[in-house]
Amino acid sequence: MKHLLSMNDLSKVDIEKIFRLTDKLKNKQTNDLKGKNIALIFQKPSTRTRVSFTVAINQLGGNAITLNWNELQLGRGETVEDTTRVLERYVDAIVARVFSHEDLVKMAKISKVPVINALSDLEHPCQALADLYTIKQKKKNLRRLKIVFLGDGANNTFHSLILACEKFGLDIVVSCPNNYRPKVRAKYKIIEDPKEAVKDADILYTDVFVSMGQETEQEKRLKELQKYQLNSKLVELAKKDVIVLHPLPAHRGQEITSDVIDGENSVVFDQAENRLHTEKAILYLLMK
Ligand code: CP
Ligand code: NVA
Repeated sequence: MKHLLSMNDLSKVDIEKIFRLTDKLKNKQTNDLKGKNIALIFQKPSTRTRVSFTVAINQLGGNAITLNWNELQLGRGETVEDTTRVLERYVDAIVARVFSHEDLVKMAKISKVPVINALSDLEHPCQALADLYTIKQKKKNLRRLKIVFLGDGANNTFHSLILACEKFGLDIVVSCPNNYRPKVRAKYKIIEDPKEAVKDADILYTDVFVSMGQETEQEKRLKELQKYQLNSKLVELAKKDVIVLHPLPAHRGQEITSDVIDGENSVVFDQAENRLHTEKAILYLLMK
């Protein structure tokens, strides 16, 4: 694997290797990326991705250079291709959060150094690796688990996690309206009625109803997705030891209620912490 743009870039064996590396590198300061510079480019806001990657790079002894898209010449119309041709001569890897997944594909086609997807309109593989790692951590293994996604099924985070879960044979159910179905090819079941979908769930997963870049559709989305809100009534219908995941940031009161996100089944902050641990392994695997 040279780049990480999609969960499809990783095999089951690659993911298992990432998890072993995660355990090995967790909470350790190393010199594995000594002398390496990594550009972090952001076309959209970020808290977790930006800080966890910066800390991950520092913990591996490397140097992170954070760049805001609009402060680069990209914001004034320099092409993604020309920017990549220049950056690859300076840095040892490019981590980029973009609106259009196509921009990452353009970067990866040109770049001799690894390009890592830090979220696009289509996928969020770094999030999905932390999610699956969290599921494994909490459930001890990934066998015989049922995961239910509620809300906007055509969402970047869901897309990557569905692809990851498929590789490990999880029973995947997506509960969403007809016009919000996932856009990735994978084996999953659609159960439109959320009360029906969550029965016997081991994992409940939701994400925002309005992703970054979809703000003009806000009113419509909130109305159409309202009935998929992850609330305590739905949690009660799942298994007693169900875990609740959300990539964050959450819009409390929209896709998830505060009592659920703060409740005893929620593992969202461990999940956020795991971004740091898994990203160290991703960097190690691509750069070492
Ligand atoms: N989950 C996630 O990617 O968060 P940020 O948008 O804060 O980076
Ligand atoms: N689906 C969300 C994820 C944020 C981490 C978005 O794209 O805004």
